[in-house]
Amino acid sequence: MADLSTVFTGIRFENPFLLASAPPTESESNIMRAFEAGWGGVVTKTIGLHPVVNVRGPKTKFFRVPSGSASPSMAKQPDSTLMASWNWELISDKPMDWWIPRIERIKKAWPERVLVASIMAGSGNDKELAAWQTLVEGVQGAGADAIELNFSCPHMDRVDMGSNVGKDPVLCSVSTQAVKEVSRVPVWVKLTPATANIVEEAEATFRGGADAISSSNTFPALPLIDPETTEFEVHVDGYVSSGGLGGPAILPLSLAKMAQLTQAFPDREFSGIGGISGFDQALSYFLLGCGTAQVGTAAMLDHAIGPNVIRDLTEGMAAFLDRNAGRGWSSLADFRGLRRANVVSQSEIGRPGDAGYHGGYEEEAEGYAAEVPAPHG
Ligand SMILES: Cc1cc2nc3c(=O)[nH]c(=O)nc-3n(C[C@H](O)[C@H](O)[C@H](O)COP(=O)(O)O)c2cc1C
Repeated sequence: MADLSTVFTGIRFENPFLLASAPPTESESNIMRAFEAGWGGVVTKTIGLHPVVNVRGPKTKFFRVPSGSASPSMAKQPDSTLMASWNWELISDKPMDWWIPRIERIKKAWPERVLVASIMAGSGNDKELAAWQTLVEGVQGAGADAIELNFSCPHMDRVDMGSNVGKDPVLCSVSTQAVKEVSRVPVWVKLTPATANIVEEAEATFRGGADAISSSNTFPALPLIDPETTEFEVHVDGYVSSGGLGGPAILPLSLAKMAQLTQAFPDREFSGIGGISGFDQALSYFLLGCGTAQVGTAAMLDHAIGPNVIRDLTEGMAAFLDRNAGRGWSSLADFRGLRRANVVSQSEIGRPGDAGYHGGYEEEAEGYAAEVPAPHG
């Protein structure tokens, strides 16, 4: 089999595929099974200092579209296709003290596989910034190979947590800097896609010292309202709050965010997430410049940790390298970023014949009809 190994933020990966921070990585047994199945790395479910309590009832549901219809619903229906996941699950309901011995045991059993610890704290004051540092010291002491800062969870009420950090360039920069003061391992930052220009938050995060950016987390979304009952398809006592959309529906949205990032920072490292269920989708992220790819929804639906997904990813990549051996491609480094420069502005896209378009600006040869000279006399 082809050599799928790669180096990302200085860490060697057997293959560039990781389970994203989500239910597949919420326990020691899941992570052990994931490594057995062949995942190159895992990002743990996000770890905080204190336990959290989730809502009553289901935390994740799936939008499906019946065959031949464009009417998504969370209701069980025969012969339907997955469109997206929707969740309002908080971070790990187990705090750091629960995770530390488990990270130690996982790393002891799988020293060559990569364990990235996802962490989250508040960012509003020095006490909160110290909480980030306590988390870093805990997880890196236990053996985590890298840390991913969660600036992207869309369900946090606190204005200085989760995606509210990722929406504020100052908090992005200050929190990353606090982490970098004590970290001895690479620091990845997972940004929210729910901002006007993700390049601004990325710039602040790199200024704070981040080694890589992961994108995307889920996109803010609501369940639909059932036309029969006029209640939301997911609710508790009739109420719902904004959750996050993942899976196939967000693949093109997430690629657009990634293209902005890799173009703005062509020399930086990026981990692509969003709508990946096999190698074909991961390839889009690689061709835009990503050095690793992460999977959430697809793995949740495949025996909880994605044994078939990782098989498709690794076999798909090996077959792709084989097919393209004639182009001199023998590793990810040979094709990474190949299509980064192919995302351009509208006016740079070819038009029929010699017609030109100048982005809506008035200019000669605009593409509109030439001005007709005023008739004399
Ligand atoms: C049920 C669920 C729980 C998640 N929990 C976390 C989390 O704790 N921390 C985090 O950074 N991302 C979390 N995510 C986001 C995923 O890591 C991933 O960014 C997102 O689902 C998009 O990838 P996908 O399309 O492969 O699902 C969660 C996603 C789901 C579906």
